[in-house]
Amino acid sequence: MQLNSEEIRKRAIAESEAAADSRALYEVKMKYLGRAGEVTALLKGMKQVPAEERPAFGKQVNDLRVELEAAFEAQEEKVRAKELEQKLASERVDVTMPGRKGRHGTLHPVTRVRNRLIDIFMGMGFEIYEGPEIESDYYNFTALNTPADHPARDMQDTFYLTDEFLLRTQTSAGQIRLMEKKQPPIKMLSPGRVFRSDDDATHSPMFHQMEGLVVDEHITLCDLQGMLDEFARTMFSETSKTRLRPSYFPFTEPSVEVDVSCAACGGKGCPLCKGTGWIEVLGAGMVNRRVLENCGIDPDRYTGFAFGMGIERIAMLKYGINNIKLLTENDVRFLEQFKD
Ligand code: DAH
Repeated sequence: MQLNSEEIRKRAIAESEAAADSRALYEVKMKYLGRAGEVTALLKGMKQVPAEERPAFGKQVNDLRVELEAAFEAQEEKVRAKELEQKLASERVDVTMPGRKGRHGTLHPVTRVRNRLIDIFMGMGFEIYEGPEIESDYYNFTALNTPADHPARDMQDTFYLTDEFLLRTQTSAGQIRLMEKKQPPIKMLSPGRVFRSDDDATHSPMFHQMEGLVVDEHITLCDLQGMLDEFARTMFSETSKTRLRPSYFPFTEPSVEVDVSCAACGGKGCPLCKGTGWIEVLGAGMVNRRVLENCGIDPDRYTGFAFGMGIERIAMLKYGINNIKLLTENDVRFLEQFKD
C-alpha cells in the first residue's frame, strides 16, 4: 500500500490554517484524526499491509498523526486567541460612563409600623397568629360575648356577606380561633386587615389592626399596663407614658381605653392632642370570663388580657399624617418620604 503522507500532511495543515474559527478547525481535525478520519482509517487499514512493510508503514502513519495533532493544537491556540480578542472588543464597556440609577421602593408606612409592632412584641415572646378575613358571625361577635341582639354590635358597622358570614370587623376574632386550639400559656399577636362601613378623614372601610392576647395563671391589669408602657416607649419615644381610662368592650371586663402621652408636645398640650397632652391609641382589658368559657379555658384558673390597635392610627400619630386616605391612595410622592 502506497502512502503519500507528505500530501496528506500538506493538505491537512493548509485546511487547518484556512479554518476561520474554532468550529471550522474542529471539523478539519475530525476529518483527519476523528473516528472516521482519514489518518485513523489508515491506522485501521494496517491489517492489509504486508507484514514486512507494516512496521515502516505504521511508523509513518503514527508520525503523521503526532505531527498533525501538534499542528492542529498550535492552530487552535491562534484561533482561540483571535476569538477572545474579538469577544473582548465587542463587549467593551466604557467604565467612565455614568451608571444608571436603580429606583428603590420603600416600605409602606403601614407595613413599617406593622413590622415594628411585630418586632416589639416578638421580643416579649409573642407568637403570630393570622385569622381569616372572611369570618363567621360566631367568631367575630357571638363567641366574643356579643350575641345577635347585643347593643355593642352597633359599635361597628359590619359588611355582611350572608346571615352567617361577614368581613371581619376586628382581629379580636383571632383570639377565639387560637384559644379553641390552644390551652394557656398563650401569648398571641394577630395582625390583619379588618373592614367596616365607615369613611372619613380618620376612618377607612378597610384598615389594619394588631391584636394581642395573653392568657396564663395570675395575669393582671398591671401586666397589661407594664407591657403597654414598654410598647409606647419603643414605638413613640423614650419618655412616653400610658394612661388607662375605663371603657366598655363586651369581650373584656374591666375594659380600658389606653392613651399615650403626646409625643409631639411631650404632654404639654398641642393641636395634635387637642390640648389634652394625651392621645388615645388602643382598646384593651382583662379577657371576659365568658370568652374564656366559650373557648374551653377554665376562668377560675386562668386570667388574661387583650388589646387591639389600629395600625393606620399608630402610623398617623407616629408620622404626623392627617388623612387616612393618604395611606390607601399610594401616591409615590407621599410614599417615598418614608425612607430609613
Ligand atoms: N376589637 C376592638 C375594636 O376593634 C379593639 C379591642 C378592644 C381589642 C379591647 C381588644 C380589647 O382585644 O381587649 O374596636
